[in-house]
Amino acid sequence: MEHVAVIGSSWGDEGKGKIVDYLCRDSDIIVRYQGGNNAGHTIVVEGRKFVFHLLPSGILQPGKLNVIGNGVVVDPGLLLEELAALKGEKLGALKVSEYATMIMPWHRVLDGIEGGKVGTTGRGIGPAYESKINRLGFKIGELLDFETFSKKLAERLEEANWLLQNKYKTSQLNLKEMIEQFRGYANALAPMITNTSLLLAKAMRDGKRIMFEGAQGTLLDVDYGSYPFVTSSNPSIGGLYTGTGIRPRNVKAIGIVKAYATRVGNGPFPTELKEEIGKHLQDKGHEFGATTGRPRRCGWLDLVLLKYSTDVNGFDGFALTKLDVLSGLPKVNVAVGYKVGNKTSENLLSMYDMERAEPVFKELPGWSEDISKCRKFEELPKNCRDYVTFIEKTTGVPVKYIGIGPGREELIVR
Ligand code: IMP
Repeated sequence: MEHVAVIGSSWGDEGKGKIVDYLCRDSDIIVRYQGGNNAGHTIVVEGRKFVFHLLPSGILQPGKLNVIGNGVVVDPGLLLEELAALKGEKLGALKVSEYATMIMPWHRVLDGIEGGKVGTTGRGIGPAYESKINRLGFKIGELLDFETFSKKLAERLEEANWLLQNKYKTSQLNLKEMIEQFRGYANALAPMITNTSLLLAKAMRDGKRIMFEGAQGTLLDVDYGSYPFVTSSNPSIGGLYTGTGIRPRNVKAIGIVKAYATRVGNGPFPTELKEEIGKHLQDKGHEFGATTGRPRRCGWLDLVLLKYSTDVNGFDGFALTKLDVLSGLPKVNVAVGYKVGNKTSENLLSMYDMERAEPVFKELPGWSEDISKCRKFEELPKNCRDYVTFIEKTTGVPVKYIGIGPGREELIVR
């Protein structure tokens, strides 16, 4: 059985939702393996638009099993809110790993205070992962023994309140209210909490097909991204293994590549376009964050970084999204090298080059035709095909899917 992983190749927001939506039709199980509600996946079903932050994208497909793996940080209140908003819809099943770490209320407060430099989404992601790594976190399975959980909550909240009051000079959080809040979460979530690693291992033995749904992107990976301007998890392929507790033998890794580059939040962005053309891409591509509404910084596609991301993930194929947004530009640039001092290289020689390199661009001719009606690669204008072929030749990875508009059917499959 061949499984599939959908992984962001750059700074997130590559348009994974649409590809996930297409690929999950052939999957039995959809698994989130990292991140939390910092993500925002937009899915359009029968003309209705849904934005999920935490729920796996197969939730609106009855008959499918959706899994939130142990590598995810779960804000329990938010999870219940997302489910409540879908009341009346026909849903797939949902199981949550007992070993997923919870985002606690003070994590959100701390992220709001400390996350400014990085420009985080403020959802408590970093502080929750921090507590997991320093072994002070709360696993969601702890809710099932509520008495023990309440005692631990009292201890941890005392420490958090000390920090909030003394270091950050902000108001303390109330224990009694929090215990009642979490009692409600425990009751509502109990039927969904289980050992998902066991569940997935059995499903694999039974021949089920799994889709691994990445959130964010490789350049935001805490180990492989533009540190410290990264998220606190591993969106790259390694996160799939640590975040699910299984080792599928056969996973096809599809790298999602937007036809141009975007980044939300702070940090290096070598091909950023600060002038008019960047604004044009932002407007035409509706480049505003699905979670925070912040405008995304826009730039040219960076093949130096895409080659790096391909090395990290071993991509088997690309899904090139939003190619239609480039239509109408007389010329399209792509970065093919980095110049640092008087040395130029086609590869990312040092991670720090992201901050100091001057990109070397290759200028390609643009196309003016509307491509949204094309359904075969051969129907695309020649210059547009050449753009796709140039990406394939430079990276050595075939482009298997091409997004040519926002609609579900506006996709070329090769
Ligand atoms: P955090 O994940 O909220 O800690 O934010 C860390 C960095 O990752 C910030 O630059 C965020 O803008 C960025 N980030 C987090 N989630 C996403 C996402 O889903 N898409 C794009 N950027 C994200």
